[in-house]
Amino acid sequence: MRERPLGQSGIEASAVGFGAWAIGGWMWGGTSEAESIQAIHAAIDAGIDLIDTAPMYGFGTSESILGKAIRDRRDKVVLATKCGLVCNTRSGEFKFNSDAMGPNPDGHVGVFVLLTPESIRTELEASLKRLQTDHVDLYQTHWQDSTTPIAETMGALMDLKREGKIRAIGVSNASSAQMDEYRKIGPVDSDQEKYSMLDRAIEADQLPYCDKNGIAVLAYSPLAQGLLTGKVGPDRKFADGDQRLRNPRFSVESRRRIAKMLEAFKPIAKAHDVTLSQLTIAWTLAQPGLTHALCGARTPAQARENARAGDVELTADELRTIAAAVEACAAQT
Ligand SMILES: NC(=O)c1ccc[n+]([C@@H]2O[C@H](COP(=O)([O-])OP(=O)(O)OC[C@H]3O[C@@H](n4cnc5c(N)ncnc54)[C@H](OP(=O)(O)O)[C@@H]3O)[C@@H](O)[C@H]2O)c1
Repeated sequence: MRERPLGQSGIEASAVGFGAWAIGGWMWGGTSEAESIQAIHAAIDAGIDLIDTAPMYGFGTSESILGKAIRDRRDKVVLATKCGLVCNTRSGEFKFNSDAMGPNPDGHVGVFVLLTPESIRTELEASLKRLQTDHVDLYQTHWQDSTTPIAETMGALMDLKREGKIRAIGVSNASSAQMDEYRKIGPVDSDQEKYSMLDRAIEADQLPYCDKNGIAVLAYSPLAQGLLTGKVGPDRKFADGDQRLRNPRFSVESRRRIAKMLEAFKPIAKAHDVTLSQLTIAWTLAQPGLTHALCGARTPAQARENARAGDVELTADELRTIAAAVEACAAQT
């Protein structure tokens, strides 16, 4: 497994990370605590150290499960969590109603983006308790809050860093202009953005910006929530409460189009003796400026399979062939 720096923080983290959103259950049709813990252990045993979660993933469930899983192996993990999405407030910027996103254990609540110093401090203390640790390695602002000056947010994060409660600061869903504002106050070590073969918007702004400024880029949803694994055939059914049930990208027509694209990858996958998931992750990690791929996994088998992609190196020719098939697929939408 390749390790790559998290910006200028001095922390190295596995290029393939474990994304812990799905194990929170909410928006993913539920979770099994025992299987999730086994998946996390399998990931660590297979060389993954970067694990990404957030308080919003299952309203604390993901962090609590992760806390149990790493209690006896905290030193093997580069622990990343987030702040900024809260549901105990009417302040900040309204983001969504949780009932529109599926039922959750706290009832149907409004979720706000809030990054005031007081809220960040309260959120971090709750995360540390759930994660059963005294520090977070990478603390990220989950979404950006237009109601709080970035200087105040970053000032609070720098204070937490000085206190030793967090070791590095990252942002997520942020533009390069917003990163400029953060960086007036202190170093930004990572930017977490949606990126996969099917979601390449950051190639225009955040990727080149981060590459130029030594900021790690953590791709989220690199498997397009499972679509790029080659294992979501036309017959796959999603459980109630699974966001994919109503996502047009998971329509049978879209699945067929993506299956055709994946077909073109098979000779390359065969040549490397890897699966389509592994090929997809390896392609993602080969993109200029893209440093880490956060791959969601709910089972030990998925975690092990994804981890192995951290050792796959594709040639320039193979990368070009894959890119051409991706572009042909995009042209059909
Ligand atoms: N910052 C943000 O705003 C933000 C937003 C989204 C995600 N994230 C982060 O990014 C991480 C990854 O994104 P994601 O979970 O949305 O999507 P993803 O990694 O693209 O896909 C994850 C899903 O794909 C399926 N899968 C994964 N590996 C597989 C394999 N080897 N074989 C077959 N199926 C496999 C699993 O679902 P099934 O088994 O159910 O099919 C899994 O839950 C999240 O966990 C989270 O940490 C951050």
